[in-house]
Amino acid sequence: MSISCDMLVFGGTGDLTLHKLLPALYHLHREGRLHDDVRIYALARGEMARADYLALAERHCRAQVARADFETETWQRFAERMDYLAVDATQRGEFVRLAHYLGPGEGRVRVYYLATAPSLFIDIATNLESAGLAGQDARIVIEKPIGHSLESALEINDAIGQVFPEQRIYRIDHYLGKETVQNLMALRFANAMFEPIWRSAHIDHVEITVAETLGVENRGGYYDHAGAMRDMLQNHLLQLLCLVAMEAPVRFDAKSVRGEKVKVLEALKPLTGMDVQDKTVRGQYAAGQVGGHDVQAYYFETDVDNDSDTETFVAVKAEVDNWRWAGVPFYLRTGKRMARKRSEIAVHFKPVPHSLFLNGQPNRLVIRLQPEERITLQVMAKAPGKGTRLEPVELDLNLANAFHHSRRWDAYERLLLDVIEGDSTLFMRRDEVEAAWRWVDPILKGWQEFYRKPRPYAAGTDGPEQAHRLMERDGHRWRE
Ligand code: BG6
Repeated sequence: MSISCDMLVFGGTGDLTLHKLLPALYHLHREGRLHDDVRIYALARGEMARADYLALAERHCRAQVARADFETETWQRFAERMDYLAVDATQRGEFVRLAHYLGPGEGRVRVYYLATAPSLFIDIATNLESAGLAGQDARIVIEKPIGHSLESALEINDAIGQVFPEQRIYRIDHYLGKETVQNLMALRFANAMFEPIWRSAHIDHVEITVAETLGVENRGGYYDHAGAMRDMLQNHLLQLLCLVAMEAPVRFDAKSVRGEKVKVLEALKPLTGMDVQDKTVRGQYAAGQVGGHDVQAYYFETDVDNDSDTETFVAVKAEVDNWRWAGVPFYLRTGKRMARKRSEIAVHFKPVPHSLFLNGQPNRLVIRLQPEERITLQVMAKAPGKGTRLEPVELDLNLANAFHHSRRWDAYERLLLDVIEGDSTLFMRRDEVEAAWRWVDPILKGWQEFYRKPRPYAAGTDGPEQAHRLMERDGHRWRE
């Protein structure tokens, strides 16, 4: 499907646009996925000549796109699609000017991508409406985190919902655009062997880890008000949890898939009062070494308060209170400046009911999202030679090797194309975002109520000691 479209990116000079959105659009262009008539408008507050913007965009795209995929001629044709417009998102009059500039655009899809601070979402949506730019062919894309709390999420959702109907609002969680995340659904629902054992009778516990080696880079101003809970756990990790725990949707479409995910979020056992103390751990990185380099403590980062108590690490023991998952803990953790970049889901099965061998170990299925995309199933095998000594061995599916003939798409390529084509299956619906906040809010409140500074952990380690204890208390250990 190839559709004529105007893609207007607010926050056109920001990191997200330059590092992710433009390289993704370049790839789509290069692969012939964009209609010849797709136009891209980068919008930001400052005046800038089109030629200067194109030079800025080219510099970033060259740095982001693999050298073999960047051809000057292809770039030049791609750049012909692009324009830069200075627009102050808070000024209604500037949207009227924008509307004149764009012209009537009848029959063309208009995508407004808000790669801006959430504080501008409401202004932009209402200004688009008042300039007559929010007609039936218009779609709005907003980035997580949607709000800062349930209350602010409701406010944003209400205000945007006044302008755009739900089916034309695309709430991005880029984790859902990752190939391996979608593969998780393929694994569960396209292979008969997993479903019968995908439940509390056979699964002991589940670990979800998203560890980064990066610090807050140049996003200290945003991050210091967000922290790991709002930046990562409320969205990316809970989305992964949903995909592991959800029931099979009736169809692979927006209504069914999102309907099943909401049910999981609604079944999350609330964490309140002492549970917040017992089942969550906040951490903040101190100075240390990452990849052989010395790195400074979080509170010395640019734009971070030097008395900051924002968490850069969070671990939570969650439970899904439903028939399938009763009694199965889901341990979630995410952190910045950790030892290695690694995102993975580990499903730990229960031991065999009657053990014939002395050193058996339960099976474990590991779905690795990053850095490499692979699925491994640990099974027990007899070691060669006399006796019955067992050893764990891995059935190892490396997805990059299995599909070596095709380029792996970046999450934003898939998601941008979905927006243009009007498919919202991999975007978050309003009730999903709100259900996630409904679970997270009491944790944030609990942290305020029983105030405790985040536990320090040296940069380049696996997080604070207390996070290890969270699992060890239950007789488990995080996977190293
Ligand atoms: C973003 C967060 O949503 O995800 C960042 O705001 C984080 O803080 C990033 O670094 C991680 O994404 P990925 O795709 O590198 O795992």
